[in-house]
Amino acid sequence: MDLHEAILSRRTTNGHFQSTPIKPEHQRRLMEAASAAPSHFNSQPWRFCLIEAPEKIAEVAEISGRSMTQLIDQGIFFQRYRRYFRFSQKEVDERRDGIYIDHLPAPLRPFTKQLFSDAGIQVMRTLGVPKKLGEDNRKLVAGSPLLLAVMLDKNEYIPQALSGFYSIFGMGAAMENIWLTVATLKMGIQFISTPMELPEEWQRIKDLIKLPSDLELMAVYRLGYLPFEQKRPNIDWSSRERKRFSQYVYREDCQQPQGDEW
Ligand SMILES: Cc1cc2nc3c(=O)[nH]c(=O)nc-3n(C[C@H](O)[C@H](O)[C@H](O)COP(=O)(O)O)c2cc1C
Repeated sequence: MDLHEAILSRRTTNGHFQSTPIKPEHQRRLMEAASAAPSHFNSQPWRFCLIEAPEKIAEVAEISGRSMTQLIDQGIFFQRYRRYFRFSQKEVDERRDGIYIDHLPAPLRPFTKQLFSDAGIQVMRTLGVPKKLGEDNRKLVAGSPLLLAVMLDKNEYIPQALSGFYSIFGMGAAMENIWLTVATLKMGIQFISTPMELPEEWQRIKDLIKLPSDLELMAVYRLGYLPFEQKRPNIDWSSRERKRFSQYVYREDCQQPQGDEW
């Protein structure tokens, strides 16, 4: 696969992975790709923790599933992220961003538009949706053969200083290198983000990985080899939709968008 192909085929994996362990040479390749990323003054502020022990993965899965249930049940998720969801093809065609809710579980379909209202959340509670989504999430994480915790060196990651921004920028580049390498290895990767939304659950993950005081935990991912057949999950949180050139590229100054025919 050449680089451009890898870039275009990179995806977020919402579904299950094969349970097969990730070959040591592939783990090495992912870490080597990360360290090839640019960083401010070559500081290489990133640190990674590879987690394969089944009992640890099961614990992260519990934390993640429980966090998902809580976020949905209390309406926190929808309050925080409502603006990213699209409810019609027309909206998607205009904006070309966000997540199109076109794949809800059957009982929820009549309520698509109300999903993000208090009434919608009440309906979801009655139908047991928070628990179901939490359990789906727990199973996805529990069935992943590899977790990856991404950390930054706090000597560089100082949120109020420019080096804080630079560190995040470098970490993003390192993660993209990992993500692209994942694509070349017929693997998949997905953020495990729900625990991050709830400080007490995030702390549990920090404790589990014995996070030292000089590191900040930035993100946790699940990885695995892709199955031959991929089923769309109950709610598909990812999107292949992309903006047109005219919506994000300018020429010479920000008043002149690049044309879409290029
Ligand atoms: C900073 C960041 C946070 C994200 N958080 C999540 C997440 O919590 N769960 C998830 O499934 N995907 C997450 N994603 C993936 C996006 O949903 C995904 O990149 C987007 O929908 C486009 O889909 P694609 O990656 O398949 O092209 C995140 C991506 C980024 C860069």
